[in-house]
Amino acid sequence: MRMLPTLLVRVGEMQEFFATSITAGEAVAVRDVRLSALIGLVRSTANELKENLEAAYRGNRDGRLKQAIDAKFTVLGSNTQSYLSVLTASAAGIDARDAVAYNRLHSSTVEHVINAWTAAQVELDRLLQVRIDNLLANMFVGLALIGTFAGLSIFIALLTHRHIVQPLQRLQNVASKVSSTKDYNLRAEHSSMDEIGRVTAAFNDMLAELAAAKERETAERVAFAQATRLTTMGEMAASIAHEVNQPLAAIVANANAGLRWLTNPAPDLGKVQAILQRVVRDGHRASDVVGSVRAMIKRDVQQKAPLQVNELITDVIGLLQADIQSERITLELELASSATSVLADRVQLQQVILNLITNAIDAMRTSHDVPRLLRIKTAAAEANNLLISVADSGAGIDAKHQDRIFDPFFTTKPRGMGLGLSICRSIIEAHGGRLWATPGDPRGTVFQFTLPTYNIGAL
Ligand SMILES: Nc1ncnc2c1ncn2[C@@H]1O[C@H](COP(=O)(O)OP(=O)(O)OP(=O)(O)O)[C@@H](O)[C@H]1O
Ligand SMILES: [Mg+2]
Repeated sequence: MRMLPTLLVRVGEMQEFFATSITAGEAVAVRDVRLSALIGLVRSTANELKENLEAAYRGNRDGRLKQAIDAKFTVLGSNTQSYLSVLTASAAGIDARDAVAYNRLHSSTVEHVINAWTAAQVELDRLLQVRIDNLLANMFVGLALIGTFAGLSIFIALLTHRHIVQPLQRLQNVASKVSSTKDYNLRAEHSSMDEIGRVTAAFNDMLAELAAAKERETAERVAFAQATRLTTMGEMAASIAHEVNQPLAAIVANANAGLRWLTNPAPDLGKVQAILQRVVRDGHRASDVVGSVRAMIKRDVQQKAPLQVNELITDVIGLLQADIQSERITLELELASSATSVLADRVQLQQVILNLITNAIDAMRTSHDVPRLLRIKTAAAEANNLLISVADSGAGIDAKHQDRIFDPFFTTKPRGMGLGLSICRSIIEAHGGRLWATPGDPRGTVFQFTLPTYNIGAL
């Protein structure tokens, strides 16, 4: 449409040419040249207008532009053509009388240009409006889509919070409460049967199993405690029997020997008296053992008194001298010269040493082609302790029994009860000491125990 004003300008120039040319009486040759130049300009403008119009029609997809303005532009085109043909035909004889006719042609052309322009303007406005409407519609669709997505996102976020985050938070709260209170009867709430619901149900099942396991464990612990109490009582009964049995057996054997001697027509009363003394001594020992075990049941070490361990050892050796000799055992004593005083129950400590030496003799009884050596030592040890050791050259302790020798009733002997070492250990521990065994060098076993030394100055 840019060409319409240009066309108007060109047509205006033409009108001016007629006005000036007629009044000024211009030479014909000059007028012809000017007229044909002006006609050429108008024609080329008209052609350009036509080309632009066709391009605009091609660009308008619905074809409505052509329908709306084509008639006006066709009229304009034919009008312009006839205007130019009249001009070309009459160029040679232009004079003042033609001015009215030229004016009419000029006015008619200008009117058609304006009509075409108005029609084109209306159509362009309409097209513009359509374009704007389309753009707005697109924009609304876009906004509606964005709004929908935003709404969906919020909806999904709400759903996620309600159906995933909240149940998981509830689950987490219950889990941390269970871990802090150890109350396995708590349960996590759940109503849905989705993934979270199934996880919560599995969590609740797990809690139920834990609760059941805890109940089982409590019941088992109670049963175990009862069994342990019974075992301890059984051990005690067995230990009394064991410790009393040895002196009683000696009493029976000695009394039988005494009776046999008395049936002799001339009994050696001196021998009978000696054997009766042994019976009395063993009777006392049995009664001491009973008293001592009674004290152990009370979990108290009775009759603690300061005593010399070295003396105690020689006493016990005196008791076992016969066995040591008959088994051809060489005895080595290495007794510390000082600080061998301890605060202890004499009978209990005597039993410990007696049990250890008896075990050592038993261990060497089966070894025939090696020297039988029993070495008993006392020595001061660190932290004001006295260390007592009983070493033998027996067969040693089988590695697989190493951990069990202190267990009550563990024995490898056909007539053993397996209580000696367990009693020894409980006595030594009741006196604040420790008892353990190590392999001997080059053979045999070394049993060692410690006792706190008794220091008068310290009390
Ligand atoms: N000096 C040792 N050398 C080798 N084995 C030993 C020695 N002392 C103990 N044992 C092993 O430890 C086991 C347990 O000893 P413990 O004194 O407790 O019971 P026991 O001697 O078998 O029977 P008892 O109740 O008559 O003492 C023994 O059966 C033996 O196998
Ligand atoms: Mg023993």
